[in-house]
Amino acid sequence: MREALPLASMIDVDRGMISREIFVAPEFHRAELETLFTRAWLFVGHESLIPKPGDFYTSRMGDGSVLLCRDERGAIHVFLNSCRHRGMKICRYEQGNTSLFVCPYHSWSYTTEGKLQGVPLYRTLYDGTLNREDWSLIEVPRLATYKGTIWASWDAQAPDFMAFLGDAVEHLDQALDCRDGRPGGSEVIGVHKWVLPANWKFAAENFLGDTYHNPSHRSVDMIGIGPSAQRGAKGRRDNDYGRAHHVWVNFPQGHGVHSFMQEPDAEYMPSYQQNPVVEEYMRHCYHERRRRLGERARLLPFTGTIFPNASFHGRQPRGICVWHPHSPTETEAWRFFLVDADAPAEVKDLLRRFYMRYSGPAGMTEQDDMENWLYATASSTSTIARRYPFNYQQSLGVAAGTDPLLGGEVNVQITEQNARNYYRRYRTYLEGADWPTLLGRAGLREAAE
Ligand code: FES
Ligand SMILES: [Fe+2]
Repeated sequence: MREALPLASMIDVDRGMISREIFVAPEFHRAELETLFTRAWLFVGHESLIPKPGDFYTSRMGDGSVLLCRDERGAIHVFLNSCRHRGMKICRYEQGNTSLFVCPYHSWSYTTEGKLQGVPLYRTLYDGTLNREDWSLIEVPRLATYKGTIWASWDAQAPDFMAFLGDAVEHLDQALDCRDGRPGGSEVIGVHKWVLPANWKFAAENFLGDTYHNPSHRSVDMIGIGPSAQRGAKGRRDNDYGRAHHVWVNFPQGHGVHSFMQEPDAEYMPSYQQNPVVEEYMRHCYHERRRRLGERARLLPFTGTIFPNASFHGRQPRGICVWHPHSPTETEAWRFFLVDADAPAEVKDLLRRFYMRYSGPAGMTEQDDMENWLYATASSTSTIARRYPFNYQQSLGVAAGTDPLLGGEVNVQITEQNARNYYRRYRTYLEGADWPTLLGRAGLREAAE
């Protein structure tokens, strides 16, 4: 049997070369599921999806369905969505409220705390053999909530969640905080779910800060699909980023962000003159945020990826995207769109329309991105293509700086340093895989040797 794969040369971040195998080989997909998605912190949902006792929302972690649930006492749980008897999906609905989950197959039932309660014909068939205490739903051992978002890990030894977020929290905060600078206060206004034929890492990497691909959005930039939808307005995001410069920041935990720093003398630039309620709200939020945050208000996050598969859009549009792997070449994408819970109805409605124009399966910007990801995946699956690595040498060796406001390693020119940092972290997880067994199972292609 072959020894472990030469991961250091397949994922050679120092020289900026990464084997295509990690994007197309079933063995890498398997290794990711076993060593990455069972150990990392994963985004599973938002508290606004389950506000009341008994509320549930079905979510995913890696390749498994999980049930996000608020119990009778208000505590949040995440369970594997699979019956302990014969594995039936306990909950086949996306969302709802219940006092008991009754398995559709043989009717074992579980409380909202996950305890096995009802077993049909218990006294006749199981008395003395089945101890109900031993057959609760499988529950994730680690759960964390942060400003409404809910995260979970299957690894009981996973680091503390805030330590895992590290300084990237400053950037994520801007997606979760109210537009006027109050901490938290967001709610999910809708969720898009769809499947695309691409490796999930293309999407995660895109949000890390791949600014280099902007020309592929040229058509939407030309027609102007910004939030205001003003006739004649150019660009995708109206005036939010007037007088600001780009920064790309990466963090030791593998996270990476692409944010903007406004110039100190930047002013509010109106975009919504056709809708006075929205214009007044946006203007108020801009000035109130400046008043509350002072210098920190200059930080305007655009996109980021919280390692490994939760990405965010920090301002316009605003939300969290999760990239669930189905196979090496297929991803289930979920986008949770966020608004301030107490925003006026006109503002929520305007943003809802903008989100759909911009993102999701029918969103014009996301369609551009998906086209890139799926063709890049498909054209990397052939025997010959798999012999040639991808190039990650952009701005290789360019010295990075630091900034107390931004945290992490700060770059001020377009760079693939965020991606190199991400894959360095990715490699440490994959080094933990049982490669001899994985290879014995299927046998990796010649290119990996
Ligand atoms: S599979 Fe659930 S009760 Fe049998
Ligand atoms: Fe894009």
